[in-house]
Amino acid sequence: MRFQLPLIAAIAAVPLASAQLNELAKKAGKLYFGTATDNMELNGTYLKILDDTKEFGQLTPANGMKWFAVEPEQGVFNYSDGSVVANLATKNKQKLRCHNLVWHSQLAPWVDATTWTKKTLTAALINHVTHEARHWAGQCYAWDVLNEALNDDGTYRNDTFLSVLGPDYIKIAFRAAAAADPHAKLYYNDYNIESPGNKSTSVRENIVKFLQDDGIRIDGVGLQSHFVTGSSPTIDQQIATMQSYADMNLDVAITELDVRNLLPSTATVLAQQSKDYANAVGACMQVDRCVGITVWDFYDPYSWVPGVFTGYGDADLWFSNFTKHPAYYGVVGALKNSTGKHHHGRAELSWEA
Ligand SMILES: *[C@@H]1O[C@H](CO)[C@@H](O)[C@H](O)[C@H]1NC(C)=O
Ligand SMILES: *[C@@H]1O[C@H](CO)[C@@H](O)[C@H](O)[C@H]1NC(C)=O
Ligand SMILES: *[C@@H]1O[C@H](CO)[C@@H](O)[C@H](O)[C@H]1NC(C)=O
Ligand SMILES: *[C@@H]1O[C@H](CO)[C@@H](O)[C@H](O)[C@H]1NC(C)=O
Ligand SMILES: *[C@@H]1O[C@H](CO)[C@@H](O)[C@H](O)[C@H]1NC(C)=O
Ligand SMILES: *[C@@H]1O[C@H](CO)[C@@H](O)[C@H](O)[C@H]1NC(C)=O
Repeated sequence: MRFQLPLIAAIAAVPLASAQLNELAKKAGKLYFGTATDNMELNGTYLKILDDTKEFGQLTPANGMKWFAVEPEQGVFNYSDGSVVANLATKNKQKLRCHNLVWHSQLAPWVDATTWTKKTLTAALINHVTHEARHWAGQCYAWDVLNEALNDDGTYRNDTFLSVLGPDYIKIAFRAAAAADPHAKLYYNDYNIESPGNKSTSVRENIVKFLQDDGIRIDGVGLQSHFVTGSSPTIDQQIATMQSYADMNLDVAITELDVRNLLPSTATVLAQQSKDYANAVGACMQVDRCVGITVWDFYDPYSWVPGVFTGYGDADLWFSNFTKHPAYYGVVGALKNSTGKHHHGRAELSWEA
């Protein structure tokens, strides 16, 4: 008793460290707040922030697990690049979202260059998915099994897999992933599927239902959420779309969040960006089956945006001098707004009952 009063006084005198992203996400009942990262980036101040599990509880390797890196020649597997981020996540006790097994882009050139029959491409696809998913089995919390298989109008995207195998390649990939890694959550991941429309309808019908009707396991939909400041979907649109996937007994996750500014980033632009970030995070907070949020890197100099969208930038949460965007505090606000109100796992419990 005698020591209690002075102790409390001492604690109260120390200014409370401001709460950080992963810490707040977990308090709000989510599994993680995470980020994509890449091998070349792992040094200095950036690495200190990345390693801080109060800030980030989950990592996604931006490139190292893609087909071009993992199976550069047919049947020759190379896990060295992908293992760097995977092993960092293991060392830090951060969850790992593994990305990705099948995608039309950043594919090894031999896949498009070979003349396939249905039989040979089926074998090559199963071989790729099986080897890669087995290699990291036990490390991956989730796998993006299939990435960006739809056009914006909702039709299947034509690529080598679709043109040789038809939509059945999707079943082949998910079946092989389920067999190779029984514990990872298996996701379909895409962009422009964050608001109601033809593409999100197609995710439900041509990907999720297509698999579920055949008894093939799919556990989640990843909403990439690459947004543009001032024209991002509303929070209600995002909630409605996430819930439409969740209603198919799926988890959902925001997997690649960034919000790009038309430069220069004036105070007005940064304030709008903050609202757009907060709406995305706030939507996840209001959908029980939304398990977590991943930003597609957190530091502007490592953003993919300036290289792809001319005139745009400052899409991440930290500026190049390592000060935080107003949007960081927008995200904090959205996470705190929901702290304690939602508990991940409630949906799983009611589904067991
Ligand atoms: C850290 O990595 C980045 C990206 O590869 C590089 O530009 C930078 O010079 C490195 N910094 C240090 C301190 O090594
Ligand atoms: C595997 O990939 C790494 C990184 O790109 C490269 O340095 C290494 O030479 C490759 N290993 C083999 C056996 O090709
Ligand atoms: C579909 O993609 C394949 C492989 O890239 C190509 O050979 C074929 O011409 C494409 N078909 C159409 C209709 O675009
Ligand atoms: C959805 O697709 C239909 C045709 O399938 C088209 O008529 C309609 O305009 C599309 N809606 C949107 C919002 O693009
Ligand atoms: C804060 O939470 C309330 C109730 O859950 C919700 O209606 C509101 O949209 C939230 N605000 C933000 C910015 O997420
Ligand atoms: C860091 O960069 C931001 C964005 O350019 C700028 O607004 C801010 O003043 C800089 N802070 C410091 C301490 O240099």
